[in-house]
Amino acid sequence: MDVDGHVGSLYRVLSSAVVPRPIAWVSTRGHDGVDNLAPYSFFTVASVDPPVVLFAPVDGADGLKDTPRNVAETGEFVVNLVTDDLATAMNETSATLHAGESEFDHAGLERADSTVVTPPRVAEARVALECTRRELIDIGGSTLVLGDVRYVHMNEDVTTDRKIDVEKVDAVGRLAGSWYTKTTDRFSLERPP
Ligand SMILES: Cc1cc2nc3c(=O)[nH]c(=O)nc-3n(C[C@H](O)[C@H](O)[C@H](O)COP(=O)(O)O)c2cc1C
Repeated sequence: MDVDGHVGSLYRVLSSAVVPRPIAWVSTRGHDGVDNLAPYSFFTVASVDPPVVLFAPVDGADGLKDTPRNVAETGEFVVNLVTDDLATAMNETSATLHAGESEFDHAGLERADSTVVTPPRVAEARVALECTRRELIDIGGSTLVLGDVRYVHMNEDVTTDRKIDVEKVDAVGRLAGSWYTKTTDRFSLERPP
C-alpha cells in the first residue's frame, strides 16, 4: 500500500509487521519526585561499543509522554526486563494516571535503588539497565530516546557463569493490539561459517 494518506492505519500496519518486539519497561523520576514507569516496545539496541539502547515514544494527546519528558529534564532512566510473571503488572503501568500518582504503586510493584542513576528499578525485574541520556531526536510525532547503558543488574536466577542465560529468561514480546508472545518456545540454529 502507498503510505501517503494512511497515517491512521500505519500504526497498526507497522506494529503488526515488526513483531515480536522486546519491551523496555522504563522507570524515570520526575522533577516532582514522582517515580514513573511505562512500557515501550519500539525498543532495541543501538550500539554495543559504546553500549547504547533506544526507544521511541509516540506523542500522546498532550504532546510528550511523561517518560521522554522526564528523560529530557533529568537525563536518567532505567530499562527493566519484562518476564512472564510480570506481564500483567507491566500492562497495568501503561494506564493513564493522575499527576502525582506513581505507576509503581498503582501496579503494586516494589522499588529497588539503582546504583548510578536516581530513578529506582523494578525490584521484581531480573535484569535492569541503568542509562543516561545520550540524545533525544524528534521524528515528527515521535521522539527517539538514546541512552548510554551505565550499569547492568542481573539476577542470579537468570544467569549461568555470570552471563544472562536466554534459556532462563522468560521474556515476553509485544505483538499488535493486546497480543503478546512468550519466549519459551525456543529453537537453535548454528550460524554458517
Ligand atoms: C506493551 C506496551 C508497549 C508500548 N509501547 C509503546 C511505544 O513503543 N511507544 C509509545 O509511545 N507508547 C507505547 N505504549 C503505550 C505507553 O506505555 C502509554 O502511553 C503510557 O501511558 C506512557 O506512559 P508515560 O506517559 O508515563 O511515559 C505501550 C504500551 C504497552 C502496554
